[in-house]
Amino acid sequence: MQVLNPLAIKLNEQLRDAVPAVFSLLSELGKRIYLPKGILSQTAEANTKAHRFNATRAIALDFSLDAGDMMHLPVSRVLVPELSLENIYSYAPVLGQQTLRETWKTHLLNENPSLAEKTFSLPIVTNGMTHGFSLLAELFVDPGDTLILPDKIWGNYRLIFQTKAGADLQTYPFFNAMSGFNTHGFRETLANATDGKLLVLLNFPHNPTGYAITRTEAQQIVDAIVACADTGCSILVIIDDAYAGLWYDVAVMHESLFGLLVGCHPNVVPVKIDGATKEEYAWGLRVAFMTFGIGETPMQPLEQKLSGLIRANTSGASQTSQTLILEAMKAPGYAEQKQRNYETLKVRALKAKAVASDAKYAELWEVYPSHAGYFICLNLKSANAEIVRERLLTEHGTGTIALGETELRIAYSCLDASDIETVFAAIARVIKAL
Ligand SMILES: Cc1ncc(COP(=O)(O)O)c(C=O)c1O
Repeated sequence: MQVLNPLAIKLNEQLRDAVPAVFSLLSELGKRIYLPKGILSQTAEANTKAHRFNATRAIALDFSLDAGDMMHLPVSRVLVPELSLENIYSYAPVLGQQTLRETWKTHLLNENPSLAEKTFSLPIVTNGMTHGFSLLAELFVDPGDTLILPDKIWGNYRLIFQTKAGADLQTYPFFNAMSGFNTHGFRETLANATDGKLLVLLNFPHNPTGYAITRTEAQQIVDAIVACADTGCSILVIIDDAYAGLWYDVAVMHESLFGLLVGCHPNVVPVKIDGATKEEYAWGLRVAFMTFGIGETPMQPLEQKLSGLIRANTSGASQTSQTLILEAMKAPGYAEQKQRNYETLKVRALKAKAVASDAKYAELWEVYPSHAGYFICLNLKSANAEIVRERLLTEHGTGTIALGETELRIAYSCLDASDIETVFAAIARVIKAL
């Protein structure tokens, strides 16, 4: 067992005093991690006081034209001519550009009416959403800790939380008999957990099905979490909002569950992971956000710990990528362009649903309810999903994703609306030919 650094001890005490639930959720690494005083703090001090020469930053400056521009290669600079040198080449702050963080917070408030008047942190910028989940695994998961999630999930959770962090995954069937979210199974799984510490992961709009919850289901989920917290259990509730905003059905809730969870119980620590990745159509830029549903006092030590973890790993997200997202969000055509993409995806989503649900396919597959996001998912009635996937690829040049024995995920986000009928007809042809 490593001896704790005095700075780590101080952060732990601050967390314990501010929100005991956060402290009791920390992993052993989470308890050990801290942000060393040193280069970052000395640089920050010099940035305000070194008015003659600042020889602290680990960057290179060019004085040939001016009083110190970022040294750079003009061949790459011409590719992004409108951005300042600093906003392309310089290091971004460890937790992300301040203005981007504030802009994303405003975005969250605009999109989530339930967050009005609630206390939640300034979003922390991560290097894509996967990085955010990895940070949570490091900060909160010890081998053997229980993570509750449904049986239908984005597969990377397993790699991050089970394979890497050693969490014990407990699952419940995603759907109930009415093809709604299985709030009963969720509640039972929580009620059966005996640990004093629990991690829960929820993702709506859902990958792989495209399912989104109703407001009633959302309230039932919150009630189940509160009932579990009432027994004295500390619960980290991780909300994966990768596809936030992409709701196409008026019957479902058009905001994040995060807003309903913030402040629901002192033992519940909600954290929202979302990002530019899908919402802003910027998959490869690797800009995402991690927002905690807790106040400023516990956030200060938590930010120090997360800064320590980020410093020890990716050391912050790309400055250029953050600038691109921020500038896009400030640009005059931003809202209109986003709406255009949303409308395009909505047309595809509704068409995919209508075509896949045609009575002529009823004997071949069941269509899981899909209201949002990028996907629709079929549960094949007699065929093996992997065989269908392979035949579709070799005989029809059509790529889909096989999940388990019987499920086939179709990303209509990647299909022109006019091709959707052809794709489902090909799936039917392959199944019938088996
Ligand atoms: C539900 C869900 N969460 C997170 C991610 C990953 O996001 P990122 O590419 O930002 O790591 C994906 C990507 O497919 C996803 O489907």
